[in-house]
Amino acid sequence: MHTENATPQIDRDFLKTLTVLYVEDEEEVRELLSRFLIRWVGVLHTATNGQEGAQAFLEHKPDVVVTDIKMPVMDGLEMASTIKSSSSEVPIIVITAYSERDYFIRAIEIGVDQYVTKPVNTDVLLLAIYKSARQHFHRREIEKAEKLTVDALEQTIGVLSRAIEMRDPYTDGHQKRVALLATAIAEDMGLPTDTVTGIRLGSLVHDVGKIRVPSEVLSCPRKLSKNEMDFIRTHPDAGFEILKGTTFPWPVARMVIEHHERLDGSGYPNGLKDDDIAIEARIIAVADTVEAMTSFRPYRPALGIEAAVAEIREGRGIIYDSEVVDSCIRVLEKADFKFWA
Ligand SMILES: [Fe+2]
Ligand SMILES: [Fe+2]
Repeated sequence: MHTENATPQIDRDFLKTLTVLYVEDEEEVRELLSRFLIRWVGVLHTATNGQEGAQAFLEHKPDVVVTDIKMPVMDGLEMASTIKSSSSEVPIIVITAYSERDYFIRAIEIGVDQYVTKPVNTDVLLLAIYKSARQHFHRREIEKAEKLTVDALEQTIGVLSRAIEMRDPYTDGHQKRVALLATAIAEDMGLPTDTVTGIRLGSLVHDVGKIRVPSEVLSCPRKLSKNEMDFIRTHPDAGFEILKGTTFPWPVARMVIEHHERLDGSGYPNGLKDDDIAIEARIIAVADTVEAMTSFRPYRPALGIEAAVAEIREGRGIIYDSEVVDSCIRVLEKADFKFWA
């Protein structure tokens, strides 16, 4: 049995903060180990089979689960699989006999965190609980810190986005609407969540370089002269200049400089082609075109969604990425997509 100083590396105060769920069908074993565990952990819940265990998990939200494998009604691995599918990060420790080695492959597939062999050495079990809970808490702390950083970056980008649009009342909300549509396209394409976040943030500042264009030109009520157009066309470069030194975890500066590039090389500022244009920028390009065409401009009324869809259809695979166009049309056809929200 355990002695007080057999596990000196364990922080007892930390163990006392833990809620543990222990699942075991054999009453004698369950009672013996429960008596031991309750001395060390904060709260202990027990269950007598996998099904009860899965229910107790939902009810008590433990920090660690310790389970036997062979049990009636639902075995320990089936329960582990159920738990992992709803809450993958909670550590599960499996108590196993050598004769149950066949279960190992299944346990690995399920993502069981640790094994303790029978007969249970209580010090080993305690150390397994401690270590897996520590790792779990550490991971959660890192995730929290990362989330705070991303939130701060998002807020900074939001402020920058609003500052640009305040100068130019006619395109007020343009970047926000492009961000809505570009995000929906990226999600429809099944891009990773992190890439989708980058696209949303890049869209919110894609026209930041317009800060260099005089507001008389931006809000000019007539069709622009060639000189004025040329001036406006400097905004991707200007935006890149503003953002190039930033260390965002997404290629925001690249999205900004490439959002007017076109697949056939007819875009600006660098005449890039096909895959040389970042996927993020190819998505923003389509969302930008659709938003611009469906919005009122000082020199023309809004052209409407049909005209915008016709435009991107015509340019599909020529100037606009085919997959992006298909996704965009799908998104626009969805009744629940609120472009002007
Ligand atoms: Fe632009
Ligand atoms: Fe734009």
